[in-house]
Amino acid sequence: MKALILSGGTGSRLRPLTYTGAKQLIPVANKPILFYAIEAIRDAGIHEIGIIVGDTREEVKRAVGDGSPWGVKVTYIEQDAPRGLAHAVKISQDFVGDDDFLMFLGDNLVRDGVSAFVEQFRTRKPNSLILLSRVPDPQRFGVAELENGRVVRLIEKPDVPPSDLALVGVYLFDQNIFTAVHAIKPSRRNELEITDAIQYLVDHEFVVDSHVIDGWWKDTGKPEDVLEANRMMLEYIDSDVRGTVDEESQIFGRAVIAPDAKIINSIIRGPVMIGQGASIVDSYIGPFTAISERVQVIGSEVENSIVLQDTIIDQIPTRIDSSLIGKNVRISRIADRPKALHFVLGDNSRADVQ
Ligand code: TTP
Repeated sequence: MKALILSGGTGSRLRPLTYTGAKQLIPVANKPILFYAIEAIRDAGIHEIGIIVGDTREEVKRAVGDGSPWGVKVTYIEQDAPRGLAHAVKISQDFVGDDDFLMFLGDNLVRDGVSAFVEQFRTRKPNSLILLSRVPDPQRFGVAELENGRVVRLIEKPDVPPSDLALVGVYLFDQNIFTAVHAIKPSRRNELEITDAIQYLVDHEFVVDSHVIDGWWKDTGKPEDVLEANRMMLEYIDSDVRGTVDEESQIFGRAVIAPDAKIINSIIRGPVMIGQGASIVDSYIGPFTAISERVQVIGSEVENSIVLQDTIIDQIPTRIDSSLIGKNVRISRIADRPKALHFVLGDNSRADVQ
């Protein structure tokens, strides 16, 4: 069996971060989202992975390389534009060859991995197996209607959902999906939709089974989803303090503090992760915060947030909460009058001020 990870796309809902980087490489608990998918696939016993890449191909290739750090073999598959999930399948036919394959959306996180799901496919041998999860708001998702565990209908974002079973971004297919992706037509938004391809299988008497997961999963399409995923993953960390913590500082709860990080005259209340070379001075870092490499937090308070590499947060008088702050950002206080806010924000930035 092989695997495909979809790491192209536009990432428009995560702008401005996705103007300069791939959304799949945004770190959750200081690890890129994409790496969790690679690990889940490897742990399910699959070692040949095709990664679909688009505009952010160079960055993804730099981060993942040939896959050897994970003990997997990675092949990159170029998609000229985000023409849909079924289009990604179509262009992967040569890579997949005669194998069955698992398809994993590179911005999805599935806490308990995919091993049980792959096992079900291997033992029952349906033509396709889709992963479902019960959600309170099925209108926002692709929704499956089942009869005796068999999928009979898939509907994209239904006004009146036939069930509360949303499609999670992990699928298993045999060769018949290639017939389906060649047969379907682009949707109204001009994409080849995977739901249409799976519906084609159902309509042509192929067996589409489902597996309902009870563990946590998240589609990290929007900033609040990334923060929620960060909270979930930080719940599972064990303390590991390797950096310098001076005598004036206190650490409560679980914290991972990387080598070369410095905590000076500060309070850390876990779960928190502080990356390599970061420095926290005269500050408070509150629960569910992930601070990336070389970030400096000086005289400020940060909680429930993700702060990416090389950013400086300096003397901010109000606590920063529920924030997703990009790389190399500078947030500082100015002493001059008149009292005012000064911004240099890129297109599609968001600043909420009280
Ligand atoms: P989406 O989140 O559905 O699409 P997107 O990345 O374009 O995001 P937005 O709606 O915010 O603009 O994509 C799910 C995953 O699949 C994501 O990791 C990107 C990837 N993808 C591809 O690789 N190729 C594609 O053609 C599409 C549509 C998505």
